[in-house]
Amino acid sequence: MRILVVDDSSSSRRLIADILSPIEAEISEAENGQDAFETVQSTHFDAVITDIDMPVMDGVELCKRIKEKPDLRGIPIIMVSKFDSDKAINRGFEAGASEYVPKSQVRLQLLERVQHIISEASFYQDQTILVVDDSYTTLKLISGRLSRYGFRVKTARNGEEAFKILGQTQINLVLSDVFMPVMDGIEFLHTFKQTEYQKHIPVITMSTNNDRRSIRKMQEMGSAAYLIKPFNIDSLVVLIEKLLSDQYLLLLNEKEQLEQEQRAMLDNITSLITALEARDLYTKGHSENVSKIAAGMAELEGSSEEEVEQVKRGALLHDIGKIGIADSILNKPGRLNDEEYAEIKRHPEIGYRILMPISRLEDAHSIVHYHHERFDGKGYPSGIAGKDIPKWARIVAVADTYDALSNERSYKRAFSPHEAFEVINEVKGSQLCPESVELFFEYMKKCGILQKETLNEHK
Ligand SMILES: [Fe+2]
Repeated sequence: MRILVVDDSSSSRRLIADILSPIEAEISEAENGQDAFETVQSTHFDAVITDIDMPVMDGVELCKRIKEKPDLRGIPIIMVSKFDSDKAINRGFEAGASEYVPKSQVRLQLLERVQHIISEASFYQDQTILVVDDSYTTLKLISGRLSRYGFRVKTARNGEEAFKILGQTQINLVLSDVFMPVMDGIEFLHTFKQTEYQKHIPVITMSTNNDRRSIRKMQEMGSAAYLIKPFNIDSLVVLIEKLLSDQYLLLLNEKEQLEQEQRAMLDNITSLITALEARDLYTKGHSENVSKIAAGMAELEGSSEEEVEQVKRGALLHDIGKIGIADSILNKPGRLNDEEYAEIKRHPEIGYRILMPISRLEDAHSIVHYHHERFDGKGYPSGIAGKDIPKWARIVAVADTYDALSNERSYKRAFSPHEAFEVINEVKGSQLCPESVELFFEYMKKCGILQKETLNEHK
């Protein structure tokens, strides 16, 4: 990531570089518009932050020059100035600046604006546009120009070819002619909008026919815009950016909504688990601890953020089935008899049945179901062995064992971490998966609970 900061005051440049330090971008500096314009032509930048009032060439002129060059115009420009009359700000926006931040607000707003603009710009660069037209010249002209603006472009000669491409590549916007052989634009649009997974993709229709009825018909069928040929390619790019940016905001909202729902779900699960653990004096905080350790192990192993979240949820829920076990057994002081132990052993199955109808928690199902399986096949409920036990269930089993050992139970005192490591090392390969135990030791080492030398002893 490279950002160019343009300001005639060196202290302002330093301040901006300081504010942007969390982004970890490579910051270059220029003293005026002229220097900056030369720099952006030789080096690629992801954003330019410029003062307005500068000697030699001011920020507005710099912005205009950058936006005039097709290969540079995709660079987002943020204007920063204390000279914030409406007139100056408007001149900046007219010249093509994406944002304006008054110097008085730089500390508060600049970082957030830059982060937003950069994510939006990288969003455009990842977008693939499918151009469908039977004329080779039109295809070549449009795809050439769109590529220069930074879009990825695919081409098709008719609707049928377009569908083939849509089946192979992820397309973000379609630009389609109306009159074409094999499958024309009307049939293409009709079929396209019938398909659930692609009907949200914007389609721009283009045609030499400027009859208002045809235009209305295409719009009713779901075309996002209708362009009459010949049209200006720059206006096409503005239109594409507008449609993609609407799409971007829509996706962003959906993502935020999903994240919010997931947070709410995790809160509900946590209160449910707290209620469950309140029944049993000894297991207070157990699920939370197991969840933290298992998630930490997943993270250390290089799992994706999504996977870590899944492990966190699954581990938090691992003992949910204890809801179905009688208090008299759950809280019985001392050791359990065979009958009572058989009852306790039902909890993975009960938990699995509770969660099965909740498809949003699908990732937690196998953790809940198999966290008491043993690596040697002598566990419960299924008696599966080795790597037949799902990986995350094997990992949660180690975290579960460690936390149970480290805390007091009705039948045993709390073990010190060192004692718990000894026990875990002893059951490595019989009760617990060796790879998961290794990962657990690495994690404990990372947390500073297990010292380096002791780890070697355990290996
Ligand atoms: Fe359990």
